[in-house]
Amino acid sequence: MTTPPVGTGPLRIVVVGAGTVGTALGNGFLRLGHRVDHALRPGSERPLPDGAGRVDAGPAALAGADLVVLAVPFPVAADVLRDLAPPAGTVLVDATNPFTVPVPDGYPSGLAWLAGTAGPDVHLVKAFNVMGAEHLADPVLPDGSRPLLPVAADEGPARRLVAGLCRDLGFDVVEVGADGAAVTEQAARYWGLIALAGGRGRSTVLVAHQR
Ligand SMILES: NC(=O)c1ccc[n+]([C@@H]2O[C@H](COP(=O)([O-])OP(=O)(O)OC[C@H]3O[C@@H](n4cnc5c(N)ncnc54)[C@H](OP(=O)(O)O)[C@@H]3O)[C@@H](O)[C@H]2O)c1
Repeated sequence: MTTPPVGTGPLRIVVVGAGTVGTALGNGFLRLGHRVDHALRPGSERPLPDGAGRVDAGPAALAGADLVVLAVPFPVAADVLRDLAPPAGTVLVDATNPFTVPVPDGYPSGLAWLAGTAGPDVHLVKAFNVMGAEHLADPVLPDGSRPLLPVAADEGPARRLVAGLCRDLGFDVVEVGADGAAVTEQAARYWGLIALAGGRGRSTVLVAHQR
């Protein structure tokens, strides 16, 4: 494991949600030796990855977290974020895509909307949203190819932490500014175009080769 640790030893990662994306990422982080807790709303009976813990979604859920990953449907993401009330300094990875409702007027991306909700002292990073969830836990292909993964945030420690974690998972990471988040949200549609409408199937991922 080479992710730059916030303290020493494994990261404590809180994954908000335990659906398709949340459990894939939870499994991936556990594979790397990190500590994973899933923050779920009361009454949720979602099965968790082996080795993951469960916490109730709310401000107490994020105590001591080195990293928080938001893996809930975009239409509820701002409300979920408000309930979590992430403390200043939180590094929050936004894995959502604004597919079923549009991004509110005045915001260039879902990331920007959620950043406005979270407040200026929470560091949002867009990642994991450009491909199907089945690629997230263990992304390296049988031939050793690594799926392309943009990590969008302004340059700084939060982006470096998330980019390092994504490289450890096995992605070919491209670091871009926060203004790149809007394009990654479109790129998720592009993946759907290729994999679903285009008939290549959900097992398809995009890999970059250089000429
Ligand atoms: N699926 C993909 O291939 C994929 C790939 C990349 C990005 N994404 C994006 O990732 C996000 C999660 O997608 P998913 O496929 O993992 O969804 P999912 O399987 O439907 O899981 C959604 C999770 O969010 C929770 N949730 C739903 N409404 C909530 C609320 N009001 N308050 C608190 N928690 C709530 C659910 O908990 P309950 O058990 O309580 O229902 C569940 O744990 C979406 O924004 C999606 O666009 C999806």
